[in-house]
Amino acid sequence: MMVKVGVIGVGLQGQTHLKCYKALPDVEVVAISDVNPERLEEVGEQYGVPGRYTDYREMLKKESLDAVSVATPDHLHRDPVLACTEAKVNVLCEKPLATRVEDAEAMVKAAKDAGVKLMVNFSNRWMSYMAITKKAIEDGELGEPLYAYARLSNTIYVPTGMLKTWSSHTKLPFWLMSHTIDRVRWLFGGRAVKVYGVARSKVLKSIGIDTPDFYAALVEFDNGAVGNFESCWVLPNTRPSVVDSKMELVFTKGSVSIDAQQTMIQKATESSYTVPGTLFVDIYGTPVGFVMEAIRHFVKCVEEDREPWASGEDGLEVVRTCAAIVRSAETGRPVELS
Ligand SMILES: NC(=O)c1ccc[n+]([C@@H]2O[C@H](COP(=O)([O-])OP(=O)(O)OC[C@H]3O[C@@H](n4cnc5c(N)ncnc54)[C@H](O)[C@@H]3O)[C@@H](O)[C@H]2O)c1
Repeated sequence: MMVKVGVIGVGLQGQTHLKCYKALPDVEVVAISDVNPERLEEVGEQYGVPGRYTDYREMLKKESLDAVSVATPDHLHRDPVLACTEAKVNVLCEKPLATRVEDAEAMVKAAKDAGVKLMVNFSNRWMSYMAITKKAIEDGELGEPLYAYARLSNTIYVPTGMLKTWSSHTKLPFWLMSHTIDRVRWLFGGRAVKVYGVARSKVLKSIGIDTPDFYAALVEFDNGAVGNFESCWVLPNTRPSVVDSKMELVFTKGSVSIDAQQTMIQKATESSYTVPGTLFVDIYGTPVGFVMEAIRHFVKCVEEDREPWASGEDGLEVVRTCAAIVRSAETGRPVELS
């Protein structure tokens, strides 16, 4: 089967989707949509995509698509996803599913009612260290989950440069913790029942970006496990990587320590010292790694009519947890999830 695909929102991540789809022999990228007409043309030329639309509704009306990736900013996922489900098209929506619980609920319901697949791009599940850990848990090597610590942070370039136009429309629990919370849920298998969140606003607020500098959150799961999550957006740009990612997992019979910064390569030039990521790379023109595997999984699920591993329900659970962290940080009280 040839899967006909479209992409809505062709900024940084939408282009990553395009690169991966283009590398799959059973996929035809038929159309893209972006509200920025210059970007639409530039990306359309670069990836050789014939259909180009500034209005995704028109794209959905005119093209015959099997699947669409939605890679608009965090707070703008709902309307394109609902338009896709209305057009009976399978959807791969970027994380977080939404920045409001009611939006995520509406998206999950619409996909279910329309009988189409809704996968959330929790691509971290396809990282090599996640697959190794998941297998060790399933093989009974580690015992029962007890406690997780997960740090996922960025340099200040991300909210002030990369996402300058919309960083104040999201918050770290949605942008970064959605990944770490999903990772822990995926490995530990529990459901979040109580959260305690703390945040502070100082650096970003002082330069007119209305979103907290960092969040720290404790999440209690219904199987007794506890997660300790932290994400920060004001690390100095002199750090060798834009991302700081660490994870410690403690079980009744073992533990796992992951330092995603140890990437085996350090690059020094006359102007910079960097630690290039190795979990998703371009190997002589072919994308290889976790993002590619997540997209391959979505396409396979469409072809074989299977439920994706990272479902809309997973996305909704994560949004509920993230929204509770934000609420807890704002009120100074723990929040229980029913
Ligand atoms: N899974 C991951 O690891 C990962 C990594 C990076 C980003 N993301 C997610 O991907 C999404 C996009 O992030 P990004 O960094 O590419 O942002 P971006 O700002 O680079 O791109 C967003 C694009 O969406 C377009 N857009 C906005 N409204 C639109 C609309 N109504 N119709 C069509 N296009 C529209 C914008 O013009 C822009 O080109 C975010 O939700 C982000 O959290 C996920």
